[in-house]
Amino acid sequence: MNIQSTNHERAAVSTPHSRPSALINRVKVTNADYAFIRDLIYAETRINLGANKRELVAARLGKRLRALGIRSFKEYCQRLQSNSEDGEIYHLIDAISTNHTFFFREFNHFKFLNDTLLPQFDAGKMGDPRSFNVWSCACSTGEEPYSIAISLAERFQRRTGVDWNIQCTDISNRVLHFASKAVYSEVHLKHVDASQRIRYFQKGKGEHAGSFRIRPELRERLSFQRLNLFQNPYPWRAKFQVIFCRNVMIYFDRQTQEELVARLAEHLAPGGYLFIGHAESLAGVSHPYKTIQPAIYQLPG
Ligand SMILES: C[S@@+](CC[C@H](N)C(=O)[O-])C[C@H]1O[C@@H](n2cnc3c(N)ncnc32)[C@H](O)[C@@H]1O
Repeated sequence: MNIQSTNHERAAVSTPHSRPSALINRVKVTNADYAFIRDLIYAETRINLGANKRELVAARLGKRLRALGIRSFKEYCQRLQSNSEDGEIYHLIDAISTNHTFFFREFNHFKFLNDTLLPQFDAGKMGDPRSFNVWSCACSTGEEPYSIAISLAERFQRRTGVDWNIQCTDISNRVLHFASKAVYSEVHLKHVDASQRIRYFQKGKGEHAGSFRIRPELRERLSFQRLNLFQNPYPWRAKFQVIFCRNVMIYFDRQTQEELVARLAEHLAPGGYLFIGHAESLAGVSHPYKTIQPAIYQLPG
């Protein structure tokens, strides 16, 4: 499914940023129900819920059960078990995945991009100097790849002849739908400075007052598609100069992290960089990268 945004719909979109109310649903999750959901989530996404996330699962799935008119987790598990073709697994993944993100999160990465990585690219040290490709591989609601796009637009407007693109992927259809609309409320823009707001966002008018949409010339640099990091193969032909894989590995066990970073390396240009979340680390994980700074790794050139 490629959901690259082409329409110019301005309607405010329902926000995946909101958390389910603590008051909704306290339907009992038995050991057997929890084990079933935990194992299914692991098999599909490699997200490791562990033993202690039962309350979280109950809270996050309560709304879904009500929408389906299902009154118990047992019945919900039976539905997942008996009808694997009805797409319910996507709703389950949407409900369980944690999508928290914000513009210019972990600013150190953006500073490194501007001060070190892009000058290396300009100096011809990172593959084809005419094409700069980025992959935001757990892009959530889009704040990460649009922050990258703003940084690249600022850089490449001063330098012609570089075709730059950002591939944006996530396992959750819900967040991809939100991201491809590119509409944010003012509260989401608190880390975007005033001049960037003017240059890269269109201010909503009338019924859309208070919302901001990324300008089309920036949106057209991004492509959104669903991609499970554990699907095989990945759809890419070109290599990336940088892969942002931030705040997703934290949900995976060590063996899974090892498998993932090895696969990502196959899609980096020589000298290309992998950015992971600052709360994550490859310590104890065997990998092919040089450690440059905390949360910044480079494939040998
Ligand atoms: C906390 S968000 C991180 C967003 C952004 N990278 C950041 O650092 O702000 C984690 C994202 O990882 C996605 N995710 C979890 N498991 C995944 C998998 N197996 N394949 C692809 N995306 C996955 C979730 O849907 C979620 O949107």
